[in-house]
Amino acid sequence: MSEPTKENFPEIVMPKPEPIRILSGQKALVTGANSGIGEGIAIQLAKAGADVVVNYVNNPDEANAVVEKIKKLGVNAVAIQADVSNEAEVISMFNQMFKEFGTIDILINNAGLQQDSPFDKMTIEKWNKVINVNLTGQFLCAREAIIEFKRRGVKKEISCAAGKIIHISSVHEVIPWAGHVNYASSKGGIMMLMKSIAQEVAPFRIRVNSICPGAIRTPINKNAWDTQEAYNKLMELIPYGRIGEVEDIGRAAVWLASDHADYITGTSIFIDGGMTLYPGFATGG
Ligand code: BGC
Repeated sequence: MSEPTKENFPEIVMPKPEPIRILSGQKALVTGANSGIGEGIAIQLAKAGADVVVNYVNNPDEANAVVEKIKKLGVNAVAIQADVSNEAEVISMFNQMFKEFGTIDILINNAGLQQDSPFDKMTIEKWNKVINVNLTGQFLCAREAIIEFKRRGVKKEISCAAGKIIHISSVHEVIPWAGHVNYASSKGGIMMLMKSIAQEVAPFRIRVNSICPGAIRTPINKNAWDTQEAYNKLMELIPYGRIGEVEDIGRAAVWLASDHADYITGTSIFIDGGMTLYPGFATGG
């Protein structure tokens, strides 16, 4: 194979591994699971044998469609509405989940949004909205999950761990992002939220980690991939030469939530096609 250049890039071959049912009998809650990365993770968890709560805030039709897709995979699913930034709604969602499924084994703290603005034009509303959903929402859901994990402890026929939390962070927990200061601050916050919880609950055999996606093809970043020009510009930031797909994140979440990853806690796993490798330095510096 000759040296890859921009014109002569190797063909993109997408991975298609067979699902292994390594999460059989586990109960998962995925926040913001009606679309995008949340939906992708919910589907992969279901393929791995988990029953799934599909949380959504304001699109019941999308959430119900995800529930139907999951049920076709031979596991159970239910849609539950809750705004993750609202404490009472989060507590009520967990109670509904316990009524439906009995307990929780896996929390995927995914719900998140962007409200972009130049810094000097950023309103307190935009700042608060993003911090409340992306950071406070992850705190509230993690707290309720940990209350249940500690109460129940390890059920060794289900998993080596008493519970697993996966925070969906971003490459922007380490890459500064002009015009998105509220978003990058929320993701930087998630890193210390995750690590500090992980340190506190490890003795209870509770594992807490983050997945940090790069550019994944979802509605949140449509303007970065929906024209050829935008896509080509995006590729300047991605050494691996393709955009990420939700399956790339979903499959990693399955593995990280499973006992295959039992010794992993307090870690951020970057799934970004090399976006965090400072691609500008491939030729410069
Ligand atoms: C953002 C996307 C962006 C990606 C890479 C994600 O966290 O939500 O909009 O494309 O980071 O910059």
